[in-house]
Amino acid sequence: MSIFKKKDNKGVGYISAKTSRKISKFNRKVTKKLEREREDAGKDPELYTTTMKDPNNVVEFDNVCTYFFTDIGTVRAVDGVSFDVPKCSTVGIVGESGCGKSVTSLSLMQLLQRPSGQTVGGEIRFNVGDGKALNIVKTPTAKMQQIRGNRISMIFQEPMTSLNPVFRIGQQVNEVLELHHPEMTPEEVKARTLEMLELVGIANKEGVYNMYPHELSGGMRQRVMIAIALACTPELIIADEPTTALDVTIQAQILDLLRELKDKINSSIMLITHDLGVVANMADYVVVMYAGRVIEKGTAEDIFHNPCHPYTIGLMKSKPVVGKQVEELYNIPGSVPNPVNMPNYCYFKDRCEMQCDKCKGQYPPEIRISDTHIVSCYRFMEQGEVVGYPKSTNVEEL
Ligand SMILES: Nc1ncnc2c1ncn2[C@@H]1O[C@H](COP(=O)(O)OP(=O)(O)OP(=O)(O)O)[C@@H](O)[C@H]1O
Ligand code: SF4
Ligand SMILES: [Mg+2]
Repeated sequence: MSIFKKKDNKGVGYISAKTSRKISKFNRKVTKKLEREREDAGKDPELYTTTMKDPNNVVEFDNVCTYFFTDIGTVRAVDGVSFDVPKCSTVGIVGESGCGKSVTSLSLMQLLQRPSGQTVGGEIRFNVGDGKALNIVKTPTAKMQQIRGNRISMIFQEPMTSLNPVFRIGQQVNEVLELHHPEMTPEEVKARTLEMLELVGIANKEGVYNMYPHELSGGMRQRVMIAIALACTPELIIADEPTTALDVTIQAQILDLLRELKDKINSSIMLITHDLGVVANMADYVVVMYAGRVIEKGTAEDIFHNPCHPYTIGLMKSKPVVGKQVEELYNIPGSVPNPVNMPNYCYFKDRCEMQCDKCKGQYPPEIRISDTHIVSCYRFMEQGEVVGYPKSTNVEEL
């Protein structure tokens, strides 16, 4: 939107009172319209029921655009993101801070901060069986409440803030079961909670059942979070930096536990992390994000043994390797473009050490360089087949 690009003699980043009023008016108009459309879509199941492109996927993200309508303009946090999560697999999502990893997962859970945060374009298809899918972008809140915590659950980064400090552990695990399985008796709920606590490796399950979160260590609390997330045997577990708050040995235990439990209940994991070591250990597929877009995706083997996008290559170089002596770890020069005012060429161009003549053109397409490996970079134009273009949503046309 042109008003967001306004620069005046007060310097970059200055917004006059008049522009600020214009932005607020525009935001109110757009978010009101989007909220109304969401309400209308909820009345007709046809509008949010769709079909999976591939029934072997649990979730398909298809050109998803999630924007925040803020006082300084529209932040394109996730802008044309497409990738699949196959059944019974782990998909690692990596990228630097602020690239849109959490917003992608919050869009899937419909947990965006509304009304300012809105998924304005694309489809998120969640497999509900028989080839049918729900388009989460349009699914009404009441329907979403049946799915959240039940068929898709999330493990957050900080277990102390995710657990309620005034309720006992047992009550907090029971609550999920009571909500999604009203047919269970209180005795059955308690038995299942104790079973879950045992499953996640808590030895003193009866004692912990009656404890408050502050009585547990960080690792124990994260185990409880996993018990809550897995209580209803979800088809998809989203783990957003599940081990960042834990020390390395506990981190390894929690990741082993997650992997083991995933196989026990045949679910898939969407694992969000900065830590390439964690991804290398856990993931079957890797999606690399940069500035709200997917710049490379493939199997873990593709990404770790044949990284192709200059950003992924930089990420790999900046990873410390045990036993390798280096003077200084590599860092990628420059910084991410302003999310309110993205360039119309490759978002990585201003930091790229491998750019060529073609890079002056529009944002690069998605190029398939093997059956499983896709990269958005002009360097591969001759070596692969163009399979798509990430598309932004024009907010002025909403
Ligand atoms: N509520 C919000 N209002 C405005 N902008 C937001 C909001 N939440 C996120 N953003 C913006 O969206 C972009 C993506 O944020 P996100 O939290 O997804 O990053 P991330 O990749 O998860 O980073 P990290 O690794 O630090 O967790 C950032 O530019 C952020 O500033
Ligand atoms: S398209 Fe060009 S500028 Fe962008 S990452 Fe590839 S080589 Fe670098
Ligand atoms: Mg995050």
